[in-house]
Amino acid sequence: MFKIAVAGTGYVGLVAGACFAEVGHQVTCVDMDENKVKVMQSGISPIYEEGLEALMQRNYEAGRIRYTTDYKASYKDADAIFIGVGTPEQPDGSANLTYIATVARQIAESVEKDCLVVVKSTVPVGTNDKVEQFIRDFLVHNVNVEVASNPEFLAQGSAVHDTLHAERIIIGTESKWAEELLMQIYQPFHLPIVAVNRRSAEMIKYASNDFLALKISYMNDIANLCELVGADIEDVARGMSYDERIGSKFLNAGIGYGGSCFPKDTKALAYIAKQQGYELKTVKAAIDVNKEQKTLLYRKASKRLITFNGLKVAVLGLTFKPGTDDLREAASLENIPLLLEQGADVCAFDPVGADNFAKVHAAGKKGSGSMTYAATIEQALEGANVCFIFTEWGEIKAVSPGAYKNLMRTPLVYDGRNIYSVAQMQAAGVEYHSIGRRP
Ligand code: UGA
Repeated sequence: MFKIAVAGTGYVGLVAGACFAEVGHQVTCVDMDENKVKVMQSGISPIYEEGLEALMQRNYEAGRIRYTTDYKASYKDADAIFIGVGTPEQPDGSANLTYIATVARQIAESVEKDCLVVVKSTVPVGTNDKVEQFIRDFLVHNVNVEVASNPEFLAQGSAVHDTLHAERIIIGTESKWAEELLMQIYQPFHLPIVAVNRRSAEMIKYASNDFLALKISYMNDIANLCELVGADIEDVARGMSYDERIGSKFLNAGIGYGGSCFPKDTKALAYIAKQQGYELKTVKAAIDVNKEQKTLLYRKASKRLITFNGLKVAVLGLTFKPGTDDLREAASLENIPLLLEQGADVCAFDPVGADNFAKVHAAGKKGSGSMTYAATIEQALEGANVCFIFTEWGEIKAVSPGAYKNLMRTPLVYDGRNIYSVAQMQAAGVEYHSIGRRP
């Protein structure tokens, strides 16, 4: 078993740390945010992720995981230091590497024995070559430090499961020593390992995410055409899914992809290509389709209604997908400001995302409408003139078609997640607009 330090306790770092502890490694999670560290020390997870808190508590009690701001003590004798800090998008689409550079500098100042630095964060191809050189340039002690790339493929909402049962582990190294050490660290997970060079590993992450984003945008594009020609996207997707070359996953048309990864990684790869003088046309198309798709339902409803001014608008779902309180690039963030600008009285329900939305809303532009949060779905729907569904939470899916008819003033529903069958909603007397299906 190895002594592992993890830099950064966001989705990537904290989940990785907890899972490394779970398989028996000795883990120290380092974060510069003192409050966050205190919260984690008290057994609370700073992020909402199924199974994570239980994993943190179990391994904390067993003495296999601890949390600290003291990077020096944590890095000095670690066998491996995993970096899981953010690489946020910059205005031009490129990745901001400030956090990686800060950690690299701290590692250089701290390590007192040979050690492998493993970058889990998504970084532009070639970055890890530079990280290795940067650390070596600033090393204080005479030790050998190598850098490996080990991109992460977990999805929010199923992060712990995705890590413990990953379909593959990608390790990108430049030496046999680094490859073997990483193989040994991952050995207790008993998962397929693909060992490649560092740049290929970095590329696999972008190529995988952008392929998935493309798949979603393709289905959204086809859905919009289905609507025009009278086909049904759900049936079309079902028919396509039997072809194993296409597969049955990620064929759901909807209100566009959100989250911290697809929007960021598509733009980052397009930027990387542009820097090389190459235009990545397919990825650019995925980005363009997604941008349009986000406000599709708002634009449809705007055509159907004379005005939103003074209307009660129920919004069901604020987060970018179910199972997370994350709002990044969520459809709600684009559509609600548009509704408020038009004077709508928005009443939103989300089982976990309302607090985060309220924070963003408090900081943003308001418009002449009003924003309230409902404790129940019924409260949001009561007396509403129109309803938008942005996230397919289980509790929202469980709402019966009759409830829209009975609770709303006008049963007019715009569903960005195709939760209901068109026939069911029609039978209940609801005017139902969805994606890729005719009302
Ligand atoms: C995504 C990838 O799925 C992970 O494999 C990857 O590791 C992660 O990014 C990352 O790079 O960190 P995540 O963003 O958490 O994970 O969420 P997804 O479940 O992939 O959903 C992303 C968005 O696509 C959501 O808004 C979702 O509603 C949308 N989506 C997904 C669709 O519109 N249709 C689909 O068929 C599937």
